[in-house]
Amino acid sequence: MERKCYFLIPAAGSGTRMGAGLPKLMRNVEGSPVILRTLGAIAEVCRKRYSGLDYRIILVTTNDLIDTLKAMCSEYFSDINISFTLGGATRTESVSKGIGLITDAAEDDFVLVHDGARCLITEEEITACIDGLMVHEVCASAVPVKNTLKQVEVLPSGEVKVISTPDRSGFYEILTPQGFRYGGIRKCYDKAINEGITATDDTALAELLGLEVILTKGLYSNLKITTPEDIAIASEIVRSRGESEPFHD
Ligand code: C5P
Repeated sequence: MERKCYFLIPAAGSGTRMGAGLPKLMRNVEGSPVILRTLGAIAEVCRKRYSGLDYRIILVTTNDLIDTLKAMCSEYFSDINISFTLGGATRTESVSKGIGLITDAAEDDFVLVHDGARCLITEEEITACIDGLMVHEVCASAVPVKNTLKQVEVLPSGEVKVISTPDRSGFYEILTPQGFRYGGIRKCYDKAINEGITATDDTALAELLGLEVILTKGLYSNLKITTPEDIAIASEIVRSRGESEPFHD
C-alpha cells in the first residue's frame, strides 16, 4: 500500500494583528486570497504525487470561512482529497483538531503541518521536508537567523533591558512545513492537549517528547502573513517571481 502524506493546514487564527476588515487569510496577494495561494502551492505537490505518496489535505478553519473555503476548494482543487474541520482557541488546539480527522493513517505515514498564512511556500521547501521525513522522524523548514538577537528583561518601568547577546550562528528561525510521522505527531498533540501545553510551533512539542528534530532548507521569502505590511511585501515577492497574475483562472 502507498504511504499517505497529509498536509494539515491550520487556518483558524483570528488575525487580530491584521486589523479590522476582511479576515487575513482572505486578503488578496496579487489577485489571489492568501489561503488560496497556500493551497495552490500544496496542491501542485499533491498533483505531481511527489515521491509516489498518496496525498490528502486537512484544512482547519473558522465558522465564518468554512463555507467559502469549501466552495473555493471544489472550484479549484476538486481533484484533491480535502477535508475540513473547525479550529480551536489556539494554534495547538487547531492542529490537534486537524489530527483528529485522520482516522485511516498507519503509524509511519507522513503529516506535514503548514501555516495557512504562509502563502509564499515553494515546492522546493515542501519537497525538502518530505525528503527529510524519509530518513528522520521530525523535520521542519528553517532559515539561519540574519539579525543579531538580544536576550532581554522587561523592567517594571516597561523599559527593555539587554541581558546578553547570544552567538547568532547558533540560531535558526523556524518556519513551516513541519513534518512528522503520524504516530509521532499524535503522541505530541495528545500530550499537549492532556497537559494543557500550548506551543507556537509543532516541533516544540516534539522536543518535549525527546524526538530528534532535523531542519530542512527553508527560504527567507516564506513569510507568515501577519500584519498589513506583510501583504505588501508578499505581493512584491510574487511580482518578483514573475507570478503577477493570480495563480488560478
Ligand atoms: O497565530 P499565528 O500567526 O502563530 O498563526 C499561525 C497559523 O496558525 C495561521 O495560519 C493561523 O490561521 C493558524 N491558527 C489556527 N488557530 C488558531 C490560531 C492560529 O489555525 N487558534
